[in-house]
Amino acid sequence: MRNLMIAGNWKMNKTYEEGVVLAQGLADALTGKEFKGVDVVVCPPTVDLKGVSEVIDQAQAPFALGAQNVYWEESGAFTGETAPSMLTAVNATYCIIGHSERRGYFGETDEDINKKAKALMAHDIVPISCCGEPLEVREAGKHVEFVVDQIKKDTEGLDLSDPSKYVIAYEPIWAIGTGKTATADDAQEVCCAIRETLAEIFGKETADKVRVLYGGSAKPGNIAELVAKPDVDGALVGGASLKADSFSEMVLNAAATL
Ligand code: PGA
Repeated sequence: MRNLMIAGNWKMNKTYEEGVVLAQGLADALTGKEFKGVDVVVCPPTVDLKGVSEVIDQAQAPFALGAQNVYWEESGAFTGETAPSMLTAVNATYCIIGHSERRGYFGETDEDINKKAKALMAHDIVPISCCGEPLEVREAGKHVEFVVDQIKKDTEGLDLSDPSKYVIAYEPIWAIGTGKTATADDAQEVCCAIRETLAEIFGKETADKVRVLYGGSAKPGNIAELVAKPDVDGALVGGASLKADSFSEMVLNAAATL
């Protein structure tokens, strides 16, 4: 019913040249492979988007392009920012928003994330909207309510009439880049709570069509176990997306569970 999704978040890694090489390597690794039912997205740094877009175009690569951030205004005096139309111009069809690194290091709020989602969706760019709790919240056993609160704020007033065009990534902060993966049951618990929250707000039929990904030390060795859970629809992948072989292996391992 829902396609799985494996999305690579390159974060602040890969120069333009290196990004082109990685994208080409991934195109080579995935072309001709069978992974029907798995949508693949790569999200390079902003200055790499155009180069990766050209690789996708020339190689007819079987993956889509996403950005890692956007600003909600259309244009103007917003030094350093990127407008949704600029992403469209380089054929980016997805954009990560609300990553915990942006919330933590750059002070992004749920209100900002909600505005970004609305701006992206107005331009037909699919947000991959991140949420997730810090370690102390998890240790206090308050992780579900923390994430539910984020979801309510991040989705406020969104039009989910096409639920395939909004993606959520649950990324417990303590599991990001630490090698400490949440167990598949931990991921399922929160992804399920996210879906129930969406069902309360938007109705069950809509909630059942929104992809909810897990992120945090996802890798080839644990992806099958994660996507086997009923509410985990794939992964947002950091470290393991920086090599064509590990990322393509994740795509194929996810596909093998279907
Ligand atoms: P990681 O990062 O896979 O390196 O833990 C995931 C993310 O932050 O999106």
